[in-house]
Amino acid sequence: MPYRVPFVNYPEHYRRLWDEVMGAITEVLSRGDLILRDQLRHFEENTAAFVGVKYAVGLNSGTDALYLSLLAAKVGPGDEVITVAHTFVATVSVIHYSGATPILVDIGDDYNMDIDQVEKAISPRTKGIMPVHLNGRLCDMKRLMKIAEKHNLIVIEDAAQALGATLNGKEAGSFGLTGCFSFYPAKILGTAGDGGMLVTNSKDVADKVRLLRDHGVQRATGDILFYGFNSRLDNLQAAILDIKLRYLPQWIERRRELAILYHKGLSNLPQIKLPVPPDSQTRYFDVFTNYVIRARERDRLVAYLKESGIEVLISWPKPIHHHKALNLGHFNLPMTEHISREVVSLPLFPELSNEQIEFVIDAVRKFYGSTRSPCVKG
Ligand SMILES: Cc1ncc(COP(=O)(O)O)c(C=O)c1O
Repeated sequence: MPYRVPFVNYPEHYRRLWDEVMGAITEVLSRGDLILRDQLRHFEENTAAFVGVKYAVGLNSGTDALYLSLLAAKVGPGDEVITVAHTFVATVSVIHYSGATPILVDIGDDYNMDIDQVEKAISPRTKGIMPVHLNGRLCDMKRLMKIAEKHNLIVIEDAAQALGATLNGKEAGSFGLTGCFSFYPAKILGTAGDGGMLVTNSKDVADKVRLLRDHGVQRATGDILFYGFNSRLDNLQAAILDIKLRYLPQWIERRRELAILYHKGLSNLPQIKLPVPPDSQTRYFDVFTNYVIRARERDRLVAYLKESGIEVLISWPKPIHHHKALNLGHFNLPMTEHISREVVSLPLFPELSNEQIEFVIDAVRKFYGSTRSPCVKG
């Protein structure tokens, strides 16, 4: 039986954009413009302008944006890169595949890297820091960049979940040497398959990654400058994404409206901890890629919500360093471990209706034996 409130709703998302998306697909296919053509160039230019950086390079995934960042920064065997375990495994696996050693630090209350832990984790081998802006909220990049500058470390931002989020008005992805975005379908800007983008202010890095994504081949001469990969963002995906990028600000506004509704509906339940609500007074502009709560009796709540017709998600039931195959069991990360037993993402996407969100709020309240909040109608 389909969920009354799904976690995402791709059919409705595309129904609303149908004519524009089909128009773009028709144009690309009828011209035969499939690889490294104008649509990709336009989308790269528009993304760079959106993020406020000089260069953007379209890639086949957020994972490759991270990996090629490491390669372009010459991170390799013998180096260490500091990151977190409370993230999608790609953040850590790219460090592994670069030949460097991942050094995992704990997270804070906002699920992002605990900046207090970073300096303690720096060793003579540390080459870089890879903060993750989880759930559409930036890490404290002001503090982190100071530490990085003091120790002469590169910063690669895993902004896969944070396109459009800002700190003091500065966009996610624009702080470090590179910023890496994912266009996986469920992301805030998702395509009809896979895609990613690396942004940077460094011409050297942009030039290097443009070559790395295309087998190291200099198109003008045919010369192969070094061993590379096939990691191009398809022109068709770029054309679809370029349409969606125009809608991103209004989708972000809707996400923030929905976060306010959740906050109003759930804030007086002592059994759950909510994310910081959107508030124009704070330094952080969060985009709510995910609406993650910490819940007492989390697993029972999840089962109850699913039975009630609400699809929810536990992104990582087991922290990364507890997966034996990854050989990271020597890290002791109490907050990461604690949080992984409590977190759950509630549905939040721009097409979610007020009625649907009220249904979710009612169900959560019912589970904890609480009556409906009077102030949720919005
Ligand atoms: C935090 C984080 N990092 C990296 C990635 C990898 O992005 P992609 O799936 O586009 O390779 C994701 C996407 O799932 C992510 O959420």
